[in-house]
Amino acid sequence: MIQIEQIKKNFDQLQVLDGVSLSIDKPGIFAVLGPNGSGKTTLLKSILGMVLPQQGDIQLNGVSTLRAWKYRNQIGYLPQIARFPDNLTVQEVIEMIKSIREQASNENPLLDRFGMWSFMNKKLGNLSGGTRQKVNLVLTFMFDCELYILDEPTAGLDPVALIQLKELIQEEKAKGKTFLITTHIMNLVEELSDEIVFLLDGKIYFKGSLDQLKKETKQTDLEHAIAQILK
Ligand SMILES: Nc1ncnc2c1ncn2[C@@H]1O[C@H](COP(=O)(O)OP(=O)(O)OP(=O)(O)O)[C@@H](O)[C@H]1O
Ligand SMILES: [Mg+2]
Repeated sequence: MIQIEQIKKNFDQLQVLDGVSLSIDKPGIFAVLGPNGSGKTTLLKSILGMVLPQQGDIQLNGVSTLRAWKYRNQIGYLPQIARFPDNLTVQEVIEMIKSIREQASNENPLLDRFGMWSFMNKKLGNLSGGTRQKVNLVLTFMFDCELYILDEPTAGLDPVALIQLKELIQEEKAKGKTFLITTHIMNLVEELSDEIVFLLDGKIYFKGSLDQLKKETKQTDLEHAIAQILK
Protein backbone atom coordinates (compact mmCIF):
# COMPACT_ATOMS: atom_id res chain seq x y z
CA MET A 1 0.00 0.00 0.00
CA ILE A 2 2.65 2.55 1.08
CA GLN A 3 6.33 2.08 0.28
CA ILE A 4 8.68 4.75 1.50
CA GLU A 5 12.20 4.17 0.26
CA GLN A 6 15.19 5.94 1.72
CA ILE A 7 13.77 9.44 1.80
CA LYS A 8 16.01 12.27 2.84
CA LYS A 9 14.81 15.77 3.59
CA ASN A 10 16.78 18.70 4.85
CA PHE A 11 15.81 22.31 5.35
CA ASP A 12 19.13 24.06 4.64
CA GLN A 13 21.60 22.75 7.25
CA LEU A 14 18.95 20.83 9.16
CA GLN A 15 18.72 17.15 8.17
CA VAL A 16 15.21 16.21 9.26
CA LEU A 17 14.74 12.87 7.49
CA ASP A 18 17.97 10.98 6.92
CA GLY A 19 17.07 7.86 4.99
CA VAL A 20 13.62 6.84 6.19
CA SER A 21 12.20 3.64 4.77
CA LEU A 22 8.80 2.34 5.77
CA SER A 23 6.59 -0.25 4.24
CA ILE A 24 2.92 -0.60 5.10
CA ASP A 25 1.22 -3.44 3.31
CA LYS A 26 -1.75 -4.23 5.48
CA PRO A 27 -4.64 -2.17 6.84
CA GLY A 28 -4.46 -1.05 10.45
CA ILE A 29 -3.47 1.79 12.71
CA PHE A 30 0.15 2.89 12.65
CA ALA A 31 1.26 5.37 15.30
CA VAL A 32 4.10 7.63 14.17
CA LEU A 33 5.86 8.72 17.34
CA GLY A 34 8.94 10.74 18.20
CA PRO A 35 9.97 13.82 20.13
CA ASN A 36 9.07 17.37 19.07
CA GLY A 37 10.96 18.26 15.92
CA SER A 38 11.82 14.65 15.04
CA GLY A 39 10.24 14.95 11.60
CA LYS A 40 6.84 13.31 12.03
CA THR A 41 4.90 16.08 10.29
CA THR A 42 7.62 16.32 7.62
CA LEU A 43 7.28 12.59 6.94
CA LEU A 44 3.49 12.75 6.71
CA LYS A 45 3.63 15.82 4.46
CA SER A 46 6.10 13.99 2.23
CA ILE A 47 3.53 11.25 1.68
CA LEU A 48 1.05 13.93 0.64
CA GLY A 49 3.51 15.68 -1.65
CA MET A 50 3.37 18.85 0.47
CA VAL A 51 7.07 18.43 1.24
CA LEU A 52 9.40 17.26 -1.52
CA PRO A 53 12.23 15.02 -0.28
CA GLN A 54 15.63 15.60 -1.88
CA GLN A 55 16.18 11.86 -2.20
CA GLY A 56 14.19 8.66 -2.16
CA ASP A 57 10.81 7.60 -3.41
CA ILE A 58 7.30 7.16 -2.04
CA GLN A 59 4.86 4.83 -3.70
CA LEU A 60 1.18 4.42 -3.07
CA ASN A 61 -0.20 1.15 -4.46
CA GLY A 62 2.90 0.71 -6.57
CA VAL A 63 2.84 4.16 -8.17
CA SER A 64 5.36 6.85 -7.31
CA THR A 65 3.74 9.88 -5.70
CA LEU A 66 6.55 12.26 -6.55
CA ARG A 67 5.23 15.15 -8.60
CA ALA A 68 1.89 13.37 -9.01
CA TRP A 69 -1.30 14.67 -7.44
CA LYS A 70 -4.31 12.50 -8.27
CA TYR A 71 -3.42 9.94 -5.62
CA ARG A 72 -4.22 12.53 -2.96
CA ASN A 73 -7.91 11.78 -3.45
CA GLN A 74 -7.25 8.41 -1.84
CA ILE A 75 -5.99 10.10 1.32
CA GLY A 76 -7.87 11.87 4.09
CA TYR A 77 -5.49 14.33 5.76
CA LEU A 78 -5.88 16.11 9.06
CA PRO A 79 -3.06 18.67 9.33
CA GLN A 80 -1.45 19.47 12.66
CA ILE A 81 -2.37 23.10 12.10
CA ALA A 82 -5.28 23.63 9.72
CA ARG A 83 -5.72 27.15 8.48
CA PHE A 84 -8.92 28.24 6.81
CA PRO A 85 -10.15 31.83 6.49
CA ASP A 86 -11.62 32.90 9.84
CA ASN A 87 -14.55 34.66 8.22
CA LEU A 88 -15.98 31.51 6.63
CA THR A 89 -18.81 29.73 8.42
CA VAL A 90 -18.63 25.99 9.15
CA GLN A 91 -21.17 25.39 6.37
CA GLU A 92 -19.14 27.48 3.94
CA VAL A 93 -15.84 25.74 4.63
CA ILE A 94 -17.48 22.33 4.17
CA GLU A 95 -18.95 23.47 0.83
CA MET A 96 -15.60 24.94 -0.20
CA ILE A 97 -13.69 21.72 0.45
CA LYS A 98 -16.39 19.67 -1.30
CA SER A 99 -16.14 21.84 -4.40
CA ILE A 100 -12.34 21.63 -4.44
CA ARG A 101 -12.24 17.90 -3.91
CA GLU A 102 -15.01 16.94 -6.37
CA GLN A 103 -15.63 13.61 -4.61
CA ALA A 104 -18.74 12.15 -3.02
CA SER A 105 -18.91 13.32 0.59
CA ASN A 106 -20.87 12.11 3.57
CA GLU A 107 -20.64 14.82 6.21
CA ASN A 108 -24.04 14.50 7.91
CA PRO A 109 -23.26 11.47 10.11
CA LEU A 110 -20.06 13.22 11.20
CA LEU A 111 -21.91 16.43 12.02
CA ASP A 112 -24.27 14.28 14.13
CA ARG A 113 -21.42 12.41 15.78
CA PHE A 114 -19.53 15.53 16.82
CA GLY A 115 -22.67 17.54 17.68
CA MET A 116 -21.90 20.22 15.09
CA TRP A 117 -25.33 21.25 13.79
CA SER A 118 -25.69 24.28 16.02
CA PHE A 119 -22.37 25.66 14.76
CA MET A 120 -23.07 25.52 11.04
CA ASN A 121 -23.63 29.27 10.64
CA LYS A 122 -20.88 30.35 13.01
CA LYS A 123 -17.65 31.78 11.63
CA LEU A 124 -14.56 29.64 12.13
CA GLY A 125 -12.75 32.52 13.81
CA ASN A 126 -15.37 32.59 16.56
CA LEU A 127 -15.23 28.89 17.41
CA SER A 128 -13.44 27.42 20.40
CA GLY A 129 -10.24 25.48 19.69
CA GLY A 130 -11.83 22.08 20.24
CA THR A 131 -14.86 22.93 18.09
CA ARG A 132 -12.52 24.04 15.31
CA GLN A 133 -10.75 20.70 15.58
CA LYS A 134 -14.12 18.95 15.21
CA VAL A 135 -14.68 20.90 11.98
CA ASN A 136 -11.26 19.70 10.79
CA LEU A 137 -12.20 16.11 11.64
CA VAL A 138 -15.45 16.40 9.68
CA LEU A 139 -13.50 17.78 6.69
CA THR A 140 -11.06 14.85 6.90
CA PHE A 141 -13.52 12.01 7.30
CA MET A 142 -16.32 13.21 5.01
CA PHE A 143 -14.56 11.62 2.04
CA ASP A 144 -14.24 7.85 1.78
CA CYS A 145 -10.50 7.16 1.62
CA GLU A 146 -8.33 4.07 1.89
CA LEU A 147 -5.70 5.94 3.91
CA TYR A 148 -6.15 8.53 6.65
CA ILE A 149 -3.21 10.59 7.82
CA LEU A 150 -3.98 12.29 11.12
CA ASP A 151 -1.43 14.71 12.59
CA GLU A 152 -2.28 15.24 16.28
CA PRO A 153 -6.00 14.51 15.83
CA THR A 154 -6.89 14.86 19.52
CA ALA A 155 -5.65 18.46 19.88
CA GLY A 156 -8.11 20.37 22.04
CA LEU A 157 -10.81 17.69 22.14
CA ASP A 158 -12.86 17.15 25.29
CA PRO A 159 -13.33 13.57 26.61
CA VAL A 160 -16.70 13.13 24.87
CA ALA A 161 -15.26 14.16 21.51
CA LEU A 162 -12.22 12.00 22.14
CA ILE A 163 -14.42 8.94 22.62
CA GLN A 164 -16.31 9.83 19.41
CA LEU A 165 -13.03 10.10 17.53
CA LYS A 166 -11.70 6.79 18.82
CA GLU A 167 -14.95 5.06 17.84
CA LEU A 168 -14.83 6.65 14.41
CA ILE A 169 -11.26 5.49 13.83
CA GLN A 170 -12.10 1.98 14.95
CA GLU A 171 -15.19 1.81 12.74
CA GLU A 172 -13.14 2.91 9.73
CA LYS A 173 -10.38 0.47 10.56
CA ALA A 174 -12.99 -2.32 10.62
CA LYS A 175 -13.80 -1.37 7.02
CA GLY A 176 -10.19 -2.12 6.08
CA LYS A 177 -8.82 1.41 6.20
CA THR A 178 -5.24 2.32 7.07
CA PHE A 179 -4.30 5.06 9.49
CA LEU A 180 -1.07 6.91 10.08
CA ILE A 181 -1.48 8.86 13.29
CA THR A 182 0.92 11.09 15.15
CA THR A 183 0.15 11.93 18.73
CA HIS A 184 1.84 12.69 22.01
CA ILE A 185 -1.10 11.14 23.88
CA MET A 186 0.27 7.77 24.88
CA ASN A 187 -2.97 6.18 25.99
CA LEU A 188 -4.41 6.84 22.53
CA VAL A 189 -1.53 4.83 21.11
CA GLU A 190 -2.05 2.06 23.67
CA GLU A 191 -5.75 1.89 22.93
CA LEU A 192 -5.69 2.12 19.16
CA SER A 193 -2.45 1.31 17.46
CA ASP A 194 -1.46 -1.96 15.84
CA GLU A 195 2.09 -0.83 15.20
CA ILE A 196 4.43 1.85 16.38
CA VAL A 197 6.90 3.69 14.17
CA PHE A 198 9.33 5.70 16.26
CA LEU A 199 11.34 8.46 14.59
CA LEU A 200 14.59 9.63 16.08
CA ASP A 201 17.54 11.52 14.63
CA GLY A 202 16.09 11.40 11.14
CA LYS A 203 15.70 7.64 11.10
CA ILE A 204 13.18 5.03 12.12
CA TYR A 205 14.51 3.94 15.46
CA PHE A 206 11.85 1.32 16.07
CA LYS A 207 9.01 -0.30 14.14
CA GLY A 208 6.90 -2.97 15.72
CA SER A 209 4.15 -3.73 18.15
CA LEU A 210 3.62 -2.11 21.52
CA ASP A 211 4.49 -5.41 23.20
CA GLN A 212 7.76 -5.65 21.29
CA LEU A 213 8.66 -2.09 22.27
CA LYS A 214 7.92 -2.77 25.94
CA LYS A 215 9.95 -5.96 25.79
CA GLU A 216 12.94 -4.33 24.11
CA THR A 217 13.01 -1.46 26.58
CA LYS A 218 12.12 -3.69 29.55
CA GLN A 219 9.27 -1.36 30.53
CA THR A 220 5.68 -2.12 31.39
CA ASP A 221 4.04 0.95 29.86
CA LEU A 222 4.53 2.96 26.71
CA GLU A 223 5.38 6.25 28.40
CA HIS A 224 8.29 4.69 30.23
CA ALA A 225 9.34 2.69 27.18
CA ILE A 226 9.69 5.92 25.23
CA ALA A 227 11.40 7.71 28.08
CA GLN A 228 13.87 4.82 28.10
CA ILE A 229 14.65 5.32 24.39
CA LEU A 230 15.19 9.05 24.89
CA LYS A 231 17.49 8.70 27.89
N1 LIG B 1 9.30 24.43 6.01
C1 LIG B 1 10.28 24.31 6.91
N2 LIG B 1 11.38 25.09 6.84
C2 LIG B 1 12.38 24.97 7.73
N3 LIG B 1 12.40 24.06 8.73
C3 LIG B 1 11.34 23.25 8.85
C4 LIG B 1 10.23 23.34 7.96
N4 LIG B 1 9.32 22.41 8.32
C5 LIG B 1 9.84 21.78 9.41
N5 LIG B 1 11.05 22.29 9.73
C6 LIG B 1 11.91 21.82 10.80
O1 LIG B 1 12.06 20.41 10.69
C7 LIG B 1 12.09 19.79 11.98
C8 LIG B 1 11.03 18.72 12.04
O2 LIG B 1 9.75 19.36 12.06
P1 LIG B 1 8.40 18.54 12.12
O3 LIG B 1 7.29 19.53 12.08
O4 LIG B 1 8.41 17.48 11.08
O5 LIG B 1 8.51 17.85 13.55
P2 LIG B 1 7.45 16.96 14.36
O6 LIG B 1 8.10 15.65 14.66
O7 LIG B 1 6.17 16.93 13.62
O8 LIG B 1 7.33 17.78 15.74
P3 LIG B 1 6.05 18.02 16.71
O9 LIG B 1 6.01 16.84 17.65
O10 LIG B 1 6.45 19.26 17.46
O11 LIG B 1 4.84 18.20 15.88
C9 LIG B 1 11.93 20.92 12.99
O12 LIG B 1 13.21 21.28 13.46
C10 LIG B 1 11.30 22.03 12.17
O13 LIG B 1 11.64 23.31 12.69
MG1 LIG C 1 4.35 17.66 13.98
